[in-house]
Amino acid sequence: MKIRLDKYLADMGIGTRSEVKKLIQKGQVFVNENAVKKPETKIDTETDVVFCQGKPVTYAEFEYFMLHKPSGVVSATEDKKDKTVLDLINSNRKDLFPVGRLDKDTEGLLLITNDGQLAHRLLSPSKHVDKVYFARIDGKVTDEDVQIFAKGLDIGDDKPTLPAKLVVLKSSDISEIELTIREGRFHQVKRMFHAVGKEVTYLKRLRMGTLILDENLPAGEFRELTKKEIEELC
Ligand code: URA
Repeated sequence: MKIRLDKYLADMGIGTRSEVKKLIQKGQVFVNENAVKKPETKIDTETDVVFCQGKPVTYAEFEYFMLHKPSGVVSATEDKKDKTVLDLINSNRKDLFPVGRLDKDTEGLLLITNDGQLAHRLLSPSKHVDKVYFARIDGKVTDEDVQIFAKGLDIGDDKPTLPAKLVVLKSSDISEIELTIREGRFHQVKRMFHAVGKEVTYLKRLRMGTLILDENLPAGEFRELTKKEIEELC
């Protein structure tokens, strides 16, 4: 791919477009060992070697991070009041966003990327990508609930939910379950349990499509996706 030098540096988080233009004009950017002073110079992202202020800058068109979202942060790119999931990602890139939303009090797997096409494929309602959640429920979850969820149920929208797979891990006054849904409606898991007279008291996403939350990633931490994880998702 060929792109302008100033865009190359700005995309990699070196500074704003005007900041990097100044660095270029001051002769602080080298391409293949030559100082280049024109911001519009075309760079081949595959073959050209770029140094800015003596440090190599390699170009990644797309970046993919797995975040173990903790409770208390919002799934947005910015927020006036609350900390956002992007505040937890230590990257200079300005074009990252979360793929879908988890509620502020929901924990677990959140993919953060700048790959809009992948996000669209994962979120498109017609693609029916599986999302797996663990939840703690105030109330006894029964086999009857399993049957109701398997048929799809009315949660107050125009249409009932698609069939969902409910696995009861513990059935008691406080129950524990694993639920697989293929949609991403607003507060869907909480509304599904509310519709059968129970309340979700803890919710954590474990999987989205082929991507599984890394057990070794503590809440609040992130890591880059492996090559294999990216290939399987794309
Ligand atoms: N369903 C919910 O109710 N909340 C979430 O955060 C995700 C799915």
